Amino acid sequence: MNSESQVDKTRLPRHIAVIMDGNGRWAKAKGQPRVFGHKNGVKAVREISEASAELGIEYVTLYAFSTENWNRPKLEVNALMTLLVETVRREIATMNKNNIRLNAIGELDKLPGKSFKALLDGIEETKNNSRMTLTLALNYSARWEIVEAAKRLSKDVKDEKVQTENINEEIFSQYLSTHNMPDPELMIRTSGEQRISNYLLWQMAYTEFCFLDIFWPDFTREHLYKAIIDFQSRERRFGKTSEQIIS
Ligand code: IPE
Ligand code: IPE
Ligand code: MG
Repeated sequence: MNSESQVDKTRLPRHIAVIMDGNGRWAKAKGQPRVFGHKNGVKAVREISEASAELGIEYVTLYAFSTENWNRPKLEVNALMTLLVETVRREIATMNKNNIRLNAIGELDKLPGKSFKALLDGIEETKNNSRMTLTLALNYSARWEIVEAAKRLSKDVKDEKVQTENINEEIFSQYLSTHNMPDPELMIRTSGEQRISNYLLWQMAYTEFCFLDIFWPDFTREHLYKAIIDFQSRERRFGKTSEQIIS
């Protein structure tokens, strides 16, 4: 069993990105409809948020709904949107108690009105919290985000706020929806699937990946500890040699 005491608190990732995957298969294995899996996934969201905040992680970003997920059956999409409203409303008090700030990235104004409103309310009501930022990626697609950044940057070039020859990675990243966060050092995906599915493509250039063979509703804080302990055993070389890192 992985315990909190095995985590080196001096070498924590500042930002953990998560692809919460496998709700549908979890439900199917139990002979239940997919929506049952999504409902049970909420518990795991609470688990990772609280455990991360207790450890001292500053940013957790959860992939909750991709732009491609609109292609799912209407019934499932509607259920996910309703679950979003209910969960955000219900969890605000706990988030305030735990000093967690809610944030969201993605094409949010294309969400159904009620979901968008609940989200904005949640963000507003938790905006003064400072222990950890919990970001939901909703109607999110990394390619969309990069194209949006390019559009806004071109406008600033046209308006002569930015000179083309001055554009560099740092300036470009200021146009992304994650501009106020460090890049994630660790990405966790559940369900056994080993792909990025259009998530944080720019930001994960040097992220360490941890793929867990469990479905999202079964995720507990022990899995978070396991992922961080594993992360801490890796040597992050950023293109250098092992000898350069150790010396
Ligand atoms: C992740 O679980 C939740 C969302 C994508 C909203 P899935 O719904 O993708 O579950 P599987 O991968 O089909 O089992
Ligand atoms: C990725 O999961 C999106 C979310 C977890 C919200 P999917 O289940 O949509 O990804 P694919 O389709 O298996 O790549
Ligand atoms: Mg899936």
